[in-house]
Amino acid sequence: MHDFHYVGQELYCEDRSISSLAAEFGTPLYVYSQQTFTRHYQALDQAMAGVDHAVSYSVKSNSNLAVLRLLRDLGSGFDIVSEGELQRVIAAGGSPSDCLFAGVGKTANEIEFALKRGIYCFNVESEPELDRINRIAGQLGVTAPVAVRVNPNVEAKTHAKITTGTYENKFGIAFEEVEAVYQRAGALEHLKPIGIQMHIGSQLTQVEPFEKAVRKVAPLIEKLAQQYPFEFFSIGGGLGIIYQPALESGASEWWESEKARDLLTPQRYAESLAPLLKPLGLRIFLEPGRFIAGNAGVLVTRVEYVKQTGDKNFVIVDAAMNDLIRPAFYEAYHEIVPIHAKSEGITSSDVVGPVCESGDAFCQDRPLPAMQEGDYLGLMSAGAYSMVMASNYNSRGFPAEVLVNGSQAEVVRARQPLEQLLQGERVPSWMT
Ligand code: LLP
Repeated sequence: MHDFHYVGQELYCEDRSISSLAAEFGTPLYVYSQQTFTRHYQALDQAMAGVDHAVSYSVKSNSNLAVLRLLRDLGSGFDIVSEGELQRVIAAGGSPSDCLFAGVGKTANEIEFALKRGIYCFNVESEPELDRINRIAGQLGVTAPVAVRVNPNVEAKTHAKITTGTYENKFGIAFEEVEAVYQRAGALEHLKPIGIQMHIGSQLTQVEPFEKAVRKVAPLIEKLAQQYPFEFFSIGGGLGIIYQPALESGASEWWESEKARDLLTPQRYAESLAPLLKPLGLRIFLEPGRFIAGNAGVLVTRVEYVKQTGDKNFVIVDAAMNDLIRPAFYEAYHEIVPIHAKSEGITSSDVVGPVCESGDAFCQDRPLPAMQEGDYLGLMSAGAYSMVMASNYNSRGFPAEVLVNGSQAEVVRARQPLEQLLQGERVPSWMT
């Protein structure tokens, strides 16, 4: 996290003052650090160095073209879940042959597109999907590489909305069924089972659920790998990050700080999983999203008004739940800091957006220094599942995104002009 740090009173992203970026590009503004993406990718990659592995960055966490290009250049492949994400990877210069295609609802068009482009593998989540891929591959005269996503029925101990590896969840094929599904896949003419995949959840802060899931599926994998030409086992993503409070840590990375003493770090992840994975003799894919992108971004917002209602102090800012939905949707914590440091007038405050919903709040009753119109605040660790989950609710345009690299800063996504919001809409003929 040391790429976001105060120089005197000013918060910097690498060598650029965030106030000056906000003044130049306007707010709400996502500011990303190239160095953070890079180091976090490398930290995980290096931790797993003892195992034959490949990182497939989870595009859904932050799919900006610049981010995808950066990861491609670092040597990453991609975990994708839609044709749109595959198009992004291609537009960023990535290769479909480095992509794992996941998702419970792949459409026929998506499967056809991915096959024509030479996707590395489909991670299949149901038997009807196997049939559909087989049929389309047959029509195209190709063989489709497939892996079954196994649902190991292991509790991930994370937020319910981001738990994916139990039978309460829609994902994957039940552990007990997997063998029969491979038999079926093996018998279908246009399919080639080349691996197996799992993903038990996101923002995991302990290694035990991963370890439990790997221990559970490893014997099955050993058996299946003797019958089918397996190349890989993908263990999914899910490594959690520290959201609270990221800036305080004196260490250069949060996983080196005292706060991470009992948490899942890349080292602990590798130490406990590598001995279980290595004997499988397969290439291990990792599908991290948040670990790479989460700490690499800040959402910068401008204070519009401050008002008191009863005992409450509301700081009304120009970013809203449509720009960053995580607090409203998952009760997620994001550290909030003044971009120009202040310490006077600490007041318990709610930072809220202009959207007409009571849930449009970034924090409640949090101690913050006295804010004034025109001050900037930073919502930290907004690099993953932030811009990608933005919407146009309340007819608000998407914010802009800026990537910083040392002293360079460039807009990597322009602020959405409001005219674009009306594109494609029309009044029907019977009203005109
Ligand atoms: N692989 C698969 C198949 C996934 O479904 C996901 C995330 C990942 C990898 C990457 O997981 P990560 O390493 O980022 O934890 N919007 C939520 C998170 C949703 C995660 C969905 N799947 C949030 O803001 O917390």
